Amino acid sequence: MSTTPAKPAARSLFVPVDCRIVSITELTPQEKLFRVEFPGGADLGHVPGQFVQVSILGLGEAPISVASSPTRRGSFELGVRRAGTLTGAMHRLKEGAVIGIRGPFGRPFDLERMGGKDLLLISGGCGLAPMRSLIQYCQDNPDDFGRITILYGAKSPEDMLFKDEIRDWEASERYACAATVDDVPGGSCYDGPVGQVTRLIPPLRIDPEKTVAAIVGPPVMYRFVIEELKKKGLAEDRIAVSLERQMRCGVGKCGHCTIEHLYCCLDGPVFWLNEVSGLRGAL
Ligand SMILES: Cc1cc2nc3c(=O)[nH]c(=O)nc-3n(C[C@H](O)[C@H](O)[C@H](O)COP(=O)(O)OP(=O)(O)OC[C@H]3O[C@@H](n4cnc5c(N)ncnc54)[C@H](O)[C@@H]3O)c2cc1C
Ligand code: FES
Repeated sequence: MSTTPAKPAARSLFVPVDCRIVSITELTPQEKLFRVEFPGGADLGHVPGQFVQVSILGLGEAPISVASSPTRRGSFELGVRRAGTLTGAMHRLKEGAVIGIRGPFGRPFDLERMGGKDLLLISGGCGLAPMRSLIQYCQDNPDDFGRITILYGAKSPEDMLFKDEIRDWEASERYACAATVDDVPGGSCYDGPVGQVTRLIPPLRIDPEKTVAAIVGPPVMYRFVIEELKKKGLAEDRIAVSLERQMRCGVGKCGHCTIEHLYCCLDGPVFWLNEVSGLRGAL
């Protein structure tokens, strides 16, 4: 397996490329994982944290984060929650179907600034999909990073994404991994931690000088997680946040995704916290 990310291919910003869905895996009743191939097996050429614009003719487009690492070559994966028109139609597609892909777009995780540091990777809900791209990247480049701690919170055991991979990360000596659920409905045989993901932070031993944190999750999660990280002494320029906004063009032309003077599609979706913490409506 090559561990060198592929260079982005020269593609039009505006014209989707027809790509084939080579496999579809049900992750939860609401989320599916689509493995997608460019014609000829070309690499997408992304960096963890970036997204693509997925389209189906006649139905429109939606931004979806890449869920796999560029180090896993030949295809890429998208974890898609059924939310509306486009994502609903994707969920009805069968293996072999063709979708349009533009991208990769957006500012990714800053792998250079993360290099050599202990990483604290915190995700909630569907946010584990983009975080998985970074986790896989770290797996494939073990010498580039320090200790890796993965924290994940889902609504219920049924809503947990990538359950098998979480079990592998939990079992691996290389990672500290903990997953929790907000609630356990009656009849569930789950026996793991219960409570919000923020509760996993206080017991951690963190060296704030050596640590970089990354957060991807639902908007409500950020404020509480950031509060806990600050209690651990983490500075804002050591906390990366991935923000979602409604997007149209994905390339800085339509203005749909602005956060004050920033374009989420160009300046983000990954920001350092000190870049956005003072901006209205950012978090
Ligand atoms: C950078 C980025 C990365 C994303 N990555 C993923 C991903 O990896 N997996 C995934 O399942 N989803 C992801 N999303 C969200 C996804 O783009 C929306 O759910 C999708 O656009 C909905 O399109 P639709 O046509 O299915 O729904 P529509 O019929 O357009 O809308 C359904 C509902 O979703 C709302 N909505 C649309 N876009 C957003 C948004 N960005 N945030 C919150 N609500 C929205 C609409 O207002 C409407 O209420 C991402 C969004 C962004 C901006
Ligand atoms: S989505 Fe059009 S400017 Fe960002």
